[in-house]
Amino acid sequence: MDAIQIYGGNCLFGQTKIQGSKNAVLPILAATLLIDGVCEIENCPDISDVRHMLRLLESLCCTVTREKQKVKIYTKQLSQCEMPQESVGVMRSSVMLLGALLARTGSVSMQYPGGCVIGSRPIDLHLQGLRRMGVVIEEKEDGFHAETTGLIGATHRLPFVSVGATENLVLAAVLADGETIIENAAREPEIGALCEFLTQAGADIEGAGTGRLRIKGVKRLHPVSYRVPPDRIVAGTYLATCLCSGGEIFLQDAPCLQLQTVIQAAQAMGAGIQESTEGLYIACKERRKALPGLETDSYPGFPTDLQSAFLAAMTLAKGKSTIRETIFENRFRIVPELQKMGADIQLQDNSVIIEGTDRLHGALLQAEELRGGAALVLAGTAAEGVTVVTNRHFIERGYEDICLDLQKLGARCKKVDYPVADT
Ligand code: EPZ
Repeated sequence: MDAIQIYGGNCLFGQTKIQGSKNAVLPILAATLLIDGVCEIENCPDISDVRHMLRLLESLCCTVTREKQKVKIYTKQLSQCEMPQESVGVMRSSVMLLGALLARTGSVSMQYPGGCVIGSRPIDLHLQGLRRMGVVIEEKEDGFHAETTGLIGATHRLPFVSVGATENLVLAAVLADGETIIENAAREPEIGALCEFLTQAGADIEGAGTGRLRIKGVKRLHPVSYRVPPDRIVAGTYLATCLCSGGEIFLQDAPCLQLQTVIQAAQAMGAGIQESTEGLYIACKERRKALPGLETDSYPGFPTDLQSAFLAAMTLAKGKSTIRETIFENRFRIVPELQKMGADIQLQDNSVIIEGTDRLHGALLQAEELRGGAALVLAGTAAEGVTVVTNRHFIERGYEDICLDLQKLGARCKKVDYPVADT
């Protein structure tokens, strides 16, 4: 079974370079469908979610070439859109193709993208918004067919912040007839990157990074070359590793300005932080302090995608910490796994209470999803003895090579094929 083995218990010392952002590049890859010609995407992370997205684009008759971190996508004739379920089902962000495909071809059939263990992850806001823009959607048992004779601008007031719905509606709006307003839009930096890419391609978008987007439809977009910004969640994951294990690390290219709530939380736990344009320096020399009252929130609040990593760090902090998860309904799946390592955690509805212990011991753990799996690896770097985290493929959805990165930071970890007991 694909796994990661960690010999834990030593402090970290070293530096690593932060990869391009998964959650920025996925909607940008979808956006290339709106553009006739060849787009070049630089600093594109080589992760399985990107490979799935590129396969989906190829299934739509795009030509995709890759040289290391540079991807070229040539979109000319788009075939009728029946996306291969094996990729749609595996990767939720396939729903992001919906807005772009409707703008380009006017017709899409797809199955509902998979939910995952962290939540049901419906797409009702996406479909409601597209219906307001002139799309007729026929929902069936396991999927839907969407048709439009032409997208029209509309005003959307999202009842709550949704990154994906904001991205899909932006992609549907940039070539629509008329003006689109999105109130209560997500403000995540990944929305800013998407809007920057589209604006460079000729789109007319105002308000990126604010809660109100105004998009005036244009006739066409032209090819661009764009460099994907560094991944703030990967940077925050490695920051949390230092909170777990102690030591001194430098994260080259870490987007410090996008990590302010995360840096404040780390400082509250006793980390020494230095921000610079080159990256982020973290030093943890003393035992970390507990952090009561942490709550996840949409940007610029504390990111839900770093909740598991900070949970792992809190298990070793001195005192009682609490975390409240406000975005997803089931994002504490790693609690039983951390308890196998000796962590003292109580789960109460969508909150956890953590009584810090002065040591964790290695254990055989199972990853069930991307960020929780990464958090188990972080815990393993701090635990005494050997930890094995199985289902490495979940982690490889978002981290190019977490083992190599952590080795550069001084951790002793490696990819292994864990023997599955003969049943
Ligand atoms: C994006 O997911 C990210 N994924 C997630 O990162 C991230 O956790 C999430 O935003 C929140 O920041 C990508 O960008 C590819 P949402 P998304 O729509 O767009 C509910 C990672 O680890 N909702 O903001 O799916 C939804 O169920 C991943 O990199 C509806 O109810 O998140 C959730 O509870 C995990 N109906 C909440 O809103 C809808 O139509 C926020 O979801 C849409 C969403």
